[in-house]
Parts: sequence; C-alpha cells; structure tokens
Amino acid sequence: MKVAVFSSKSYDHQFLEAENLAHGHELTFFEPRLTHETASLAAGYAAICVFINDTVDGETLRAIAAQGVKLIALRSAGFNHVDLKVAAQLGLLVVRVPAYSPYAVAEHATALILALNRKIYRAYNRVRDDNFALEGLLGFDLHGSTVGIVGTGKVGQCFAQIMHGFGCRLLAYDPYPNEVCQQLGVVYVDLPALFAASDIVSLHCPLTPANHHLINAESLEQMKPGVMLINTSRGALLDTTAVIEGIKARKVGYLGIDVYEQEEALFFEDLSNTVIQDDTFQLLQSFPNVLITAHQAFFTRDALKNIAETTLANITAFAEGQPCVNQVFSAQP
Ligand code: NAI
Repeated sequence: MKVAVFSSKSYDHQFLEAENLAHGHELTFFEPRLTHETASLAAGYAAICVFINDTVDGETLRAIAAQGVKLIALRSAGFNHVDLKVAAQLGLLVVRVPAYSPYAVAEHATALILALNRKIYRAYNRVRDDNFALEGLLGFDLHGSTVGIVGTGKVGQCFAQIMHGFGCRLLAYDPYPNEVCQQLGVVYVDLPALFAASDIVSLHCPLTPANHHLINAESLEQMKPGVMLINTSRGALLDTTAVIEGIKARKVGYLGIDVYEQEEALFFEDLSNTVIQDDTFQLLQSFPNVLITAHQAFFTRDALKNIAETTLANITAFAEGQPCVNQVFSAQP
C-alpha cells in the first residue's frame, strides 16, 4: 500500500523502514507537517501516517479524503488532534498506537522531577564554569513526599511504581481506579484532595474537552505553596498563563513540562537561529525553576521500534481488509 508519512524525521525513516521489511509497503517520507496547505502531498496515497502536531482537523480531512486517502495511521497514542466526527462522516479510518512504551514517558516524568528538585541543569552549568558553590541548589528528599498522580492508566501506573520505589506517599485521581496501583498502596481521592495534599502533581491523563485547562487559577489555589507540577501528557491540560502567575506568586515552586499548549509552532524543529515570537513560552523559559523539554518523553529506541511495529501492522491489517484492533472511533455520532 502507498503510504505518505508526514512530519517525518531521520529517526522515523530509520525505524519505519526497518520494520517495513516485513510488510513491503511503499513509504514516502515528507518532512512537512500535514496541514490544509500540505494536504495536496497526499494525492495518490491510500494511507497517510501522521504524528501529534500534524493538523488533522475537519478542513484537512476533507482535503485528504478528496485526494483519495482512506486510512489515517497515527504514530501516537493520543488522538485529541483528530476530528474523529468528520473522519467518520468521510468514511476515513483512523488507527493509532495505543501503547508503545509507558516506561519511556514515566521515566521522563521522573527525570524532570529529579532534575528540577536537585537543580541538575543549573549544577551542570555551574561546574562547567568552575563555580562549585552550592547556594541555590538545595533540594528535598523524594522519600516521604506526597505525589499526586492524575490518570493511572499505562503511564500513570508505571510512574506510580517508580515513585513507590522512591518511598513516596501516593495519591491518585482517575475515574477508573487501577488495581495494580491500589495494591501498591495508591490512595484514590478526588481532585481537590489530591491538589491539597500533594508536594508533586504529575499529569498522566489524556486531554479531553472536559479536562482542558485542568490546572488553572482555581486548582492552583487549592495546592500547597511550592508545589511541583509535572506535565508529560498534553499542553492544554495546563492554563499556562495561570501557571505563570502561580510561579510569580511562588505558589508553584517548580514546573517541569514536556508538552506545551502552543507547541506545534515550536517543537520538533531547530529554531535556534530564529526569533521566537511566543512571548508566553519565552517568559516561561526565563524562570529558574522551570524545566522544559520538547515532547521527548516518548523518545527511546524501544518506543520508536514499538511505534513502527504497530503502525505498520495497522496499515497491513487495513490493506488486507482485516478489522484493526487499534481503530479509533468517534464518541459522537
Ligand atoms: P491510558 O489511556 O493508558 O491512561 C489514561 C488514564 O487517564 C486512564 O486510566 C483514564 O481513565 C484516565 N483519565 C481519563 N480522563 C481523566 C481525567 N479527566 N482525570 C484523571 N484521569 C483521567 O493512557 P497512557 O498510555 O497512560 O497515556 C497517558 C497520556 O500520556 C496520553 O493521553 C498522552 O497525552 C500522554 N503521552 C505523552 C507522551 C509524550 O511523549 N510526552 C507519549 C505518550 C503519551
């Protein structure tokens, strides 16, 4: 099957091509993101393969459907960027990679916590500058700290297991409690109770219309002064402006994010020679207690191999007319 791979980087070529030896699809790699403007590149392809910052809105879906595309293979678990209702109306099948490495994301969340707490990024720069002073590097023991986990699915569970290893007290909020977490001693509480008791709040739930800006001025008000916020899920779970106010008021003591609400304009590209126009992002970067990574939590060898494996298996199932277990359905008719 002819597949147009959008937003492709060298690592996508490497892992998809290696996996494709077992499938034999005709993959064409396009560097540009899928948008309404680049949709014409999909002409002549039965399937397109896209990542999280591709635009898969109604307008783009109509454009690619008109080019003859039948299948949208997401190289991601998240599908909040896809207008599933329009896809269903157009008869476009959407498939995803529901799990590729929850360990990768949970371990990255842990890396953000450790780096922020022990100020590793500052220490690294100081020592390189022969500045061996410790003032300003004071951390706290994770052991005995209370960690609030919002969302205890695959990633949240791995994260709970790691934090349990550190000797943390674990609280969680999830509409569907996870038995493995409960056996570990995770106590399920409602969100206000989680916010009120946690030294660290880490988000591991999907972004939905219901939890857009879950962390906002009101929820920040409920948190402990000096709380550490970690977001490796989706940028729009945080109201960035409210969090900036929280940092300035010293309510938020640390912020570690791998995702950012306006990240499509920034992440995955080398913009080191350009003037960034996003003032909110630049302000965030200016705080000493903020650590930003550019959506790299998933980025391990193991995860990329699993993403390529499942993506190609999804495409093959479609090509052979088999039902695909990883199909994403619209919740709305
Ligand atoms: P999952 O589907 O296994 O688990 C999500 C959990 O969140 C479920 O238990 C669900 O009941 C719960 N949930 C849903 N709405 C909630 C709400 N409003 N409040 C609390 N819990 C809620 O998903 P998985 O694999 O654990 O991934 C979690 C998220 O991690 C993804 O949705 C995605 O946004 C993010 N992610 C980020 C990556 C990165 O590179 N930064 C890579 C992969 C995933």
